[in-house]
Formats: sequence, C-alpha cells, structure tokens
Amino acid sequence: MNFEATPIQAELRMLARKYVQKELLPLVEGDEKSETFRPEVIRKLGELGLTGIPVPEAYDGAGLGYLDYIAAIEEIAAVSTGYAISVAVTGLPQVILSTFGTEAQKMKYIPSLARGEAIGAFSLSEAGSGSDAGALTTTARKEGAFYILNGTKLWTTQGDVAQTLIIMARTGGPGPKGVSSFIVEKGTPGLGYGKREKKMGMHTSHTMELVLENLKIPAENLIGQEGDGFKIAMTALDSGRITIAACAIGIAKAALDVACSHSREREQFGKPIAEFQGISFMLADMATQIDAAQLLVQRAAWLKDEGKPFSTEAAMAKLFATDTAMKVTTDAVQVLGGAGYTQEFPVERYMREAKVLQIVEGTNQIQRMVIGRSVSQQTLFTF
Ligand code: CAA
Repeated sequence: MNFEATPIQAELRMLARKYVQKELLPLVEGDEKSETFRPEVIRKLGELGLTGIPVPEAYDGAGLGYLDYIAAIEEIAAVSTGYAISVAVTGLPQVILSTFGTEAQKMKYIPSLARGEAIGAFSLSEAGSGSDAGALTTTARKEGAFYILNGTKLWTTQGDVAQTLIIMARTGGPGPKGVSSFIVEKGTPGLGYGKREKKMGMHTSHTMELVLENLKIPAENLIGQEGDGFKIAMTALDSGRITIAACAIGIAKAALDVACSHSREREQFGKPIAEFQGISFMLADMATQIDAAQLLVQRAAWLKDEGKPFSTEAAMAKLFATDTAMKVTTDAVQVLGGAGYTQEFPVERYMREAKVLQIVEGTNQIQRMVIGRSVSQQTLFTF
C-alpha cells in the first residue's frame, strides 16, 4: 500500500492551486456577493487540463483516473466550492456519455466539456422527486424521429449556463424502470429557465428550475435504451459523490488552515490561543477527521479507477467527508470566536458551503440508505 501522491497527482494539485490561489481567490468574495458565475474560469481550468481529467484522451480528456481528478477538485474547492462543483457537475455528462453514449454522442459532446469550453448540467430532481428520484414526472413522448419533453425540473446546478444538459424524463410506466436519459443542448426551443434559487451560500453556482415545454430533441439524443435512464443517473451519481466528497475535503482543509493561523496569532491571557488545550484539542480533532475522510475518499476513487464496485464506498466517502466538513468549518468559526462569525474571515462562508454538500447529489440520509442496504446484505464484513 502506498499513501504517497504520484508525480501526476502532485502536479495536478499544484497546477490547480497556483491558478485558483492567484487568479480566482481575489474574485471569490465579490462574486459570491453579486452571485456572478464566470464561464472563463472553467475555460481556464480547461486550458490547464483540469476539466476532463478522467476522460479518455480520444475525447480530449487527460485519460487519467479519479485519484488524479480529486486532487484537482480539492484544490479548487479550497478557494471556491462553487467552481469546484461546476467542474464536478461538468464531469457528470462526461461520465455518462463515456460509459453509456454511442460513439457519435461521445464525439459530439465530450470534447468541448473536457476542454472546459462547454459547461455541463445534470437534471434529475423535481418538486415531487428529490430523494425518491425514480418518482419523476417529466415526460418524454416519442414522435417519429423526435422526443417531446414536458415538465419542470428543479435544483439543476448551472442549468442556466450549461451548453450540454443531461435530462431525465419518463418514457414508460411508474417507478425507476420508466425513466430515460436525454442529451439536451442549450438554445433548444422549449428549454425555459424558471426561478433561480436564493440560497444560503455557494452563490457563484446558480441553481435553476428548468421549464420544459414541448422541448423537441432528435431521437438520437436518447442515451442507451428507453428505461435505462435511472441506472444511468445512479451510476453517474456514484462517481459524482466522490467529487462532492473531494470538495468537502478542500473546504475542510481551508477552514483548518485559517483556524490554525488565527490560533497562532491571536493572544489571550498572555499567550497564543493555540497553547490552550481547549483550542489545540479542537485543532487536533479537525485534522484527524480530515485525514480519515480523505482516506475514505481516496479509497472510493481507487476502487473506481481499478474497475471494482465502489457505490457503497462512494456513499461512505460522501457521507463522512461532508459531515466532517460541516463539523470542521463550524469548529473553525468557533476557534475564531466573534471574528469567525463576521465576513472579515472566510470561515463563515466555508460553513455555509459545507452545509450544501450534506444535501447535494443525495442527502446524507440517502447515503446511509445506500450503505445500509449494502452492508445488511453482507454475511462477512470484508471491506
Ligand atoms: N448503480 C446502478 N444501478 C443502480 C444503482 C447504482 N448506484 N442504484 C440503484 N440501481 C438500480 C437497481 O439495481 C434497480 O435495478 P433493478 O430494477 O434492475 O433491480 C433500480 O436501479 C432501482 O433501484 P432501487 O430499487 O434501489 O431504487 P429506489 O427507488 O429505491 O432508489 C435511491 C434508490 C438510492 C434512494 C435513489 O433514488 C437515490 O440515489 N436517490 C437520491 C437521488 C439523488 O442523489 N439526487 C440528487 C441529484 S443531483 C442534483 O440534482 C444536483 C445537480 O445539479 C448535480
């Protein structure tokens, strides 16, 4: 077993760190306030080779693995969860099409996403189907060489700016087996934008309602066969959960950094507060939890890279890493005291951003459901 980063992982980490710390960091607080998303950031990350890391080189990806991918995602999240999520969500259509797409679909849609020239979106949820994703009601009706989609989708990350959207709709009867997945291009008549959610945080990442009114797409935009859509969505979410967990590690490390430097500089009762056991034990717990979470995330990524089953381990990584980020960022605010509750320091933003990671790509209750279903079937505890 080797815990050391490979030279490629170290290089990707440094590439991402150099760009986000120098170019993105000065923009983040202002953009969070004005709720501005800059597509040029994704283009730049693409030029650096960071938006298509796990995609084969034949489709303009880097042909690397998830262990490489999460190193870059973590660094981006340490500066902006919004842009890290943007990269991760742009990765979802790439994962879906590289696994389930036809050669024509792969050639048409993956390269621009992998290069960061196009932004991707994944639209599964609806008002009545969040955790119960298989209950969605948006319909896709086959008419000759086209499908006609009608319905309202919710919680679509960057749905307003995405050029390539994967939308799940019902072609068959009730439940997961009646769901299909489709590729929808920005600008297709019938693709309307509803409300943009007013959120607690992560404002650079827009969360959209999409209104589909007689949205007409070519039949060749169906991914796989009719009825495959739920499994396609679940497979993509298994991978997505690893990247969400990596975002959580990035935020948690950033929060720990601020807490450590503040506790070295801030003096009370004649000495730095880091020298008080109450503070140093908090820092110790934060560091230990982050390390444990990172190992779980790396294990899930490794399993995926090895082509082994990783669904349960991805759910464990997402659950533990995002709960850790919530705890660590909350404790970072506490270490800074009153200052931590102000916008003078980034820890209050980290805390708001950590919260959403416990919810997106399956709430942590759903992760427990996935893990619980899996472990209860095991006769021997083998992992
Ligand atoms: N991979 C492949 N297939 C899977 C699978 C997986 N991970 N999970 C389930 N399936 C298959 C099952 O094997 C089953 O197939 P068969 O019928 O052939 O046996 C079929 O899918 C139905 O599975 P379940 O009976 O387990 O389905 P369920 O209705 O009980 O739901 C669930 C399971 C895990 C709760 C699932 O609904 C779920 O993950 N819900 C959360 C949805 C979610 O994460 N939403 C967030 C979307 S992200 C977003 O919207 C924001 C954004 O912009 C990215």
